[in-house]
Amino acid sequence: MVDLRSDTVTRPTPAMRQAMAAAEVGDDVFGDDPTVNALEASVAAMFGHEAALFCPSGSMANQIALQLLVPRGGELLAGADAHVVTYELGAAAAIGGISTRTWPSVGAALDPDQIAAMVRPPGFPSVPTRAIAVEQTHNLGGGGIVGLDVLRALRQRTDVELHCDGARIWHAHVADGVPLADYGAVFDTLSVCLSKGLGAPVGSLVIGSTARIAEARVIRKRMGGGMRQVGILAAAGAYALAHHVDRLAEDHARARRLASALERFGVVDASAVRTNLVPLDLAKSALDAPALAAAAAERGVLIAAMLPRTARLVTHLDVDDDGIDQAIDVLSGLLT
Ligand SMILES: Cc1ncc(COP(=O)(O)O)c(C=O)c1O
Repeated sequence: MVDLRSDTVTRPTPAMRQAMAAAEVGDDVFGDDPTVNALEASVAAMFGHEAALFCPSGSMANQIALQLLVPRGGELLAGADAHVVTYELGAAAAIGGISTRTWPSVGAALDPDQIAAMVRPPGFPSVPTRAIAVEQTHNLGGGGIVGLDVLRALRQRTDVELHCDGARIWHAHVADGVPLADYGAVFDTLSVCLSKGLGAPVGSLVIGSTARIAEARVIRKRMGGGMRQVGILAAAGAYALAHHVDRLAEDHARARRLASALERFGVVDASAVRTNLVPLDLAKSALDAPALAAAAAERGVLIAAMLPRTARLVTHLDVDDDGIDQAIDVLSGLLT
């Protein structure tokens, strides 16, 4: 099977497993796990922030950050198709008491002026906007990258807190060559994932100031995310950061090759594919997304049906050039 459903399907490599087995561990709820502590310090430094907190998932990392930035009853602005409002199952409202308002779906093509104009100042009786969340890269936006100039403009034009859902910020960094610290300088908090394309089995971090991360530790425990000898997982993340970031360029090249091969069926604009996500627009195709996914699966290629007429292909560590050839053959046959 060539599995292109997501970059989360990767399995730890033998070398990563060795690093996990050899990890020094301790009880992380007491702050005693040296491997976790080292990972948190190094990831915080990469982004030019003071501190970071290891979390079980990207969703938890995002929701902890949102609770740090937005007091209960306050408002978060985000894109209509942002992961924090679309795929985190109402957590901002259900857990954080946070009210969300969205700008129309534009993927990564943000308009800082439009977003700045949406900010509501404090003062009865409207809901005050407390924070804005930006996704980098943009998942439903086909892996699009929000430019550093756009992010800086957003920072300049608004005076509310900025959070980055940076689940795949590594991909933006590799594709555009923007230093991670430059991204870090724009945001008050970031969440980053080690399990999306980097090959770790689990793990995300919230990044921010020392004071905020101390508070984040309390929120994580409250949400049931306090973990004990979790250095075995942090070791996988540290290994992934040391060995699997630069190679994301290979995934990007494979995604472009896939998109270029499928472009002739009118389902994708290959020039818009910047990272490892290839969205297929099936509006005019004979097969809708679930039908295409089912037919491809029968032929050994797994793809994700994201919306009734939108499918997604994702390249990653466990798909090589032969896998891409197979996917091109199968999908070309089905889209013809
Ligand atoms: C952009 C983005 N943010 C956050 C997440 C959440 O990560 P997790 O599945 O670890 O909760 C995902 C998951 O794919 C994602 O794509």
